[in-house]
Amino acid sequence: MEIGVIGAGHVGLTTAAGLAAIGHQVCCADGPENVASLRRGEIPFFEPYLAEIVGKQLAASRLRFTTAGEAVRLGRALFICVGTPPLENGEADLSEVEQVAQVVAQEATSPRLVIQKSTVPVHTGRWLQQYLKQHGRADCEVASNPEFMREGSALEAFFHPDRIVVGAESPRAVSLLKAIYGPVISGQFTCPVHDTCSPRGAVPFVAMDLASAELVKLASNSFLATKISFINLMADLCEATGADVQRVAEAMGLDPRIGPAFLRPGIGFGGFCLPKDVAAFVKVAEKFGCDFSLLREVEKVNRERVDRFVNRIRIELGGLRARRIAAWGLAFKPNTDDLRNSPALAVVRNLVAEGAKVRAYDPQATERALAELPALQACADPYEAARNAEAILVLTDWDEFQRLDWRRLKECVSHPLVIDGRNVLSHDQLARHGFRYISIGRVSAGQVAAALTSVT
Ligand code: UDX
Repeated sequence: MEIGVIGAGHVGLTTAAGLAAIGHQVCCADGPENVASLRRGEIPFFEPYLAEIVGKQLAASRLRFTTAGEAVRLGRALFICVGTPPLENGEADLSEVEQVAQVVAQEATSPRLVIQKSTVPVHTGRWLQQYLKQHGRADCEVASNPEFMREGSALEAFFHPDRIVVGAESPRAVSLLKAIYGPVISGQFTCPVHDTCSPRGAVPFVAMDLASAELVKLASNSFLATKISFINLMADLCEATGADVQRVAEAMGLDPRIGPAFLRPGIGFGGFCLPKDVAAFVKVAEKFGCDFSLLREVEKVNRERVDRFVNRIRIELGGLRARRIAAWGLAFKPNTDDLRNSPALAVVRNLVAEGAKVRAYDPQATERALAELPALQACADPYEAARNAEAILVLTDWDEFQRLDWRRLKECVSHPLVIDGRNVLSHDQLARHGFRYISIGRVSAGQVAAALTSVT
């Protein structure tokens, strides 16, 4: 099917590449500069497998990069994947969605299914439908198909989604979307992400009304953020009582009603989605007279993580001015170079502001971080960052940090201290190599004694 994808960011480019890979003819639209570099196969951000799949689909002429007008003219179905960034007051900025609506009204040559994939406030679809009707396009129907992609595994989420959610008013729109995702729903396709990929059986395809589908994404992300802030509060209590938050989380997660995912304590959640979606959800709820102050607490707990962690470093080092600190990880999570709302970058920014000498390494995001923090000393690997360090910080849970040579690291540092902001390292392993290890929500034996005496 001829499909138009408007917007070539993390969501649009992944969607366009995925749709082409399952056999559709895809026109992906963005601004002229992005289109020019995308036509050369240059991807403006790191996402595993994306460059290979875009290159392959370009070569197979199943994927083209073009203007929004051409994508609207050619695409029978149009995915809106433009940005909906937060305004100052936390509400979603829908100006890019409005621009797409204008192009559809002007350029569509026959009925179009206009599919919202960008995360939008509830009733945006209703507004879009009315806009198109008022501009002579009553023959275009609007549907919602929220994305649940996670950066670093976005293509995995496209080819093997936990569910496909569709919001539409007409059965025709639902059946068209079911046809578009047919290969993914049935699992009958050659998965470009996994060499040998056994079909996982049918993927749940959940159809509902437009407003409900628009709410699912914000509700899901807000719930995930709530889980993270809850376990971070538990970490605070575990530090105060000498308990171990990892053991608490492990036992909580064994309850299938809770589940183990998103119960990892640390320096907080970042990225473009969770912070934005929680703020937008509070605003959406307020607009409809619902008090979501629960989510304001979720945001507050998350905001406190960075200051709490920096304070811990300040106490352990007896101050931060001129201290030599190694920062491992800058991206907001592993397998991405995305620094948006990154707690890791916020920690480093605070340390540099207080006069610390920070040597930083991230497998993907170092260059981007240098542009934001020129005072950073960028290093090519964790060992170089650890040279002469008085403390090593783990700020992003990249897998490679769990496979390092601690004997060699002991030779690098000036003081054998590791402060782990993502609880990914092992106390015993580091103790064997003479390192003192501090993590989140777990206190050392000595601190347990101090915590208990402070209570009794
Ligand atoms: C999120 C949602 O997971 C995804 O479904 C949605 O479509 C887009 O937003 P993403 O922003 O890519 O995906 O990152 P995610 O994997 O959710 O992690 C978000 C942040 O939470 C990261 O900073 C991560 O470090 C943090 N996190 C995650 C925790 O601190 N603890 C956890 O247990 C899990």
